[in-house]
Amino acid sequence: MEFFNREKEINEILSIIEFEPNFIYFLYGPINSGKTALINEIINNRLDKDKYVVFYINLRRYFISKYNDFIEVLFEEYNENKKPVEIIKGLIKDTPLLFGIPVPKNTLEELLNKKTTKNVFRYITNILLEIKKSGKIPIIILDELQKIGDLKINDFLIYELFNYFISLTKHKHLCHVFCLSFDSLFIEKVYNEAMLEDRADYILVDDFDKETAMKFIDFLSENILNKKLSNEEKELIYSYVGGKPVLIIKVINKMRTEELDEILNFMLNDTKQRLKYLLEDIREENEELYKEIIKALSLFKENHEVEDITIDKKVREFLVKRNILFLDTIKGVIKPQSFLIWNAIKILI
Ligand SMILES: Nc1ncnc2c1ncn2[C@@H]1O[C@H](COP(=O)(O)OP(=O)(O)OP(=O)(O)O)[C@@H](O)[C@H]1O
Ligand SMILES: [Mg+2]
Repeated sequence: MEFFNREKEINEILSIIEFEPNFIYFLYGPINSGKTALINEIINNRLDKDKYVVFYINLRRYFISKYNDFIEVLFEEYNENKKPVEIIKGLIKDTPLLFGIPVPKNTLEELLNKKTTKNVFRYITNILLEIKKSGKIPIIILDELQKIGDLKINDFLIYELFNYFISLTKHKHLCHVFCLSFDSLFIEKVYNEAMLEDRADYILVDDFDKETAMKFIDFLSENILNKKLSNEEKELIYSYVGGKPVLIIKVINKMRTEELDEILNFMLNDTKQRLKYLLEDIREENEELYKEIIKALSLFKENHEVEDITIDKKVREFLVKRNILFLDTIKGVIKPQSFLIWNAIKILI
């Protein structure tokens, strides 16, 4: 699937990495808005390959329940009798992208045995310094960072990590750092973290706005269906699934074999059923909470988004955790995770 648009976000990120590293950047946005796809597009097609070395580490694929798990994800072991920077030079000949920090087998064992982040961070810093000496700029990208949000060693691991990232960016200006997360409660915690004040910045990767979504529908229908859709059809698709790329792709793909009305009604019904059963479960467990949730959701009958504090904190966090609502802490607004959920709310409540 060819990547579409996001020129504004791409240019913002490319311009950030042109300057010396100063902040930790958090890319946040609703579920499936295209955060990972955006970063991949930049790495694969938009980055000056002679200038940068990217370490992209996606925590999604791993089960991380203890310190060692996380360290093993950060690193990529190798057996050859070479220095890490030599290994890196060999690896970045065709692509600037690495999926872990190279480490000789014995060294990794030592790092794991010591059980402190100090040695780990020192090892990484040395590699970053070598990369800089060779004339390239290192970039660390951690995808799905919320996965280690609750992990404790002595203190929370995430604080040690943030401290380290502050030293790499604000203090040493050595390496760009980008963290991605769909978890808006995690982003809220990060945003309220005193330690990160003035040391972090935030980039919203939202679902496409209407104009872009309409163009994306054109782009896909021409590529997948070999035809243009009518304005009514495009409006109808947008009214059901909004600007979430993955849902638009799903609709257009299905249009090869199914009728548009059928596809959209099926998708909406599916979302509605899930929400209905969730509400039923809540009601069974806690009638009070149920009433509050209905009250909160009914705000969306008339509005697509409301100010975050309009909804009581406990209820807000519940609905965000269940992926019904997306909280944008930076803007201070809250809205359904998708148009499908929004439509389901309007029907059910
Ligand atoms: N700009 C785009 N052009 C084409 N396809 C896109 C674009 N953005 C997203 N997609 C499609 O949507 C899918 C989901 O996007 P992606 O996984 O990047 O979302 P995400 O925001 O990282 O999700 P999560 O919230 O789960 O981390 C991608 O696999 C891709 O098929
Ligand atoms: Mg992602």
